[in-house]
Amino acid sequence: MTTVMDDVVARESRYVLQTYRRSPVTFVRGEGVYLYDADGRQYIDLLSGIGVASLGHAHPGLAQAIAHQMKTLIHTSNLFFHPLQGELAERLSTLSGLQRAFFCNSGTEAVEACLKFARRYWHSRGAPRAEFVALDESFHGRTFGSLSVTSDEHYRKPFEPLLPSVKFVPANDAAALAAAVSTSTAAIIAEPVIGEGGIRPLTPTFADAIAAACAKTGALYIADEVQSGLGRTGHPFYFQALNLRPDLVAVGKALGGGVPIGAALVSQQVADTLSFGDHGSTYGGNLLACRAGLCVLAEIFDGRLGEQIARVGSVFERRLRAIAASRPIVKEVRGAGLMWGVDLTRDAAPIVPAALERGVVVNRTADTVVRLLPPLVITEAEAEDALGRLDAALGAVGATA
Ligand SMILES: Cc1ncc(COP(=O)(O)O)c(C=O)c1O
Repeated sequence: MTTVMDDVVARESRYVLQTYRRSPVTFVRGEGVYLYDADGRQYIDLLSGIGVASLGHAHPGLAQAIAHQMKTLIHTSNLFFHPLQGELAERLSTLSGLQRAFFCNSGTEAVEACLKFARRYWHSRGAPRAEFVALDESFHGRTFGSLSVTSDEHYRKPFEPLLPSVKFVPANDAAALAAAVSTSTAAIIAEPVIGEGGIRPLTPTFADAIAAACAKTGALYIADEVQSGLGRTGHPFYFQALNLRPDLVAVGKALGGGVPIGAALVSQQVADTLSFGDHGSTYGGNLLACRAGLCVLAEIFDGRLGEQIARVGSVFERRLRAIAASRPIVKEVRGAGLMWGVDLTRDAAPIVPAALERGVVVNRTADTVVRLLPPLVITEAEAEDALGRLDAALGAVGATA
């Protein structure tokens, strides 16, 4: 007898371009922090679709808002005004302190926009600068510009040549950064918490070095908050925790709660160097995506969710540090709020199936790191339950090491 899973895998392996190695689970429904597979089995989601399902699954408020919007008007293009784009831009401006927003559809597009706007800034000033300085272990997306500032050879190599004018420096190496940034640098780009590269928050010393290098050379700073932004770390943006003042900020993932949307937030100084026609997107900031964004931001920032994220974030920190102390397989835990990495002494790949077996969804990144990006609505009890199961998975895999 073939199962739903067999049918899905057979059809995909025949018709879908094979660029993803998927875990052998077919999710068909979700509710809050829970996902359900085709056999009705329940899982606690500690990944939220890689930091996207910020309000969890099938959130009634978000579902209602987007259903209503779909029955009203979904898309008209950027050739016309609609009432929601300015409202969402204003909201993001208040949260970030950056004056203006450009809307797109994904994280990589947000980064592309930031890179282009940085180049445009220097071009408009009559002193073109081509160079970008980025970090080892960074990840900024898969399109050509974003890939050019992404360090991983595995992602880059088959697609070279990429942008030639990118210098990489080790994260948290202030001296290397100071040596790399010059008056030829258009912008420094860095994730305030390196995500894909293993959940590595920038140190305050390194943040100061970014600010100092920008002040000395005029280089702009692009904060890629696609993964770390919008409440995930317990701050609206992690650059705020680091006392940084970026000129451009890339956001995506959590903003739509699952409806694709991204945005490049820019300072007035950068905005002043851009003109009509400099950049564009057919879908970017349409009514559906903006409705989702407005609903998500209201849920995260208007109620008591911020306090809950702080409380549950401390549960994660306490439990993960206890796990690290008791499990020799764990080398280190890193993170903030609801963004954590459990760095192992070995490849983390076997933890994913071991966790799934115990009804928990996690992800492996940077080879040795178990990445946790739960929905922001996760409660203390749900966190305790999920981390207990993760601990058991670590124990089982550790016992076989
Ligand atoms: C920090 C960061 N920037 C950019 C991206 C690219 O986002 P997307 O996959 O939506 O293009 C990601 C995706 O993981 C990311 O973590």
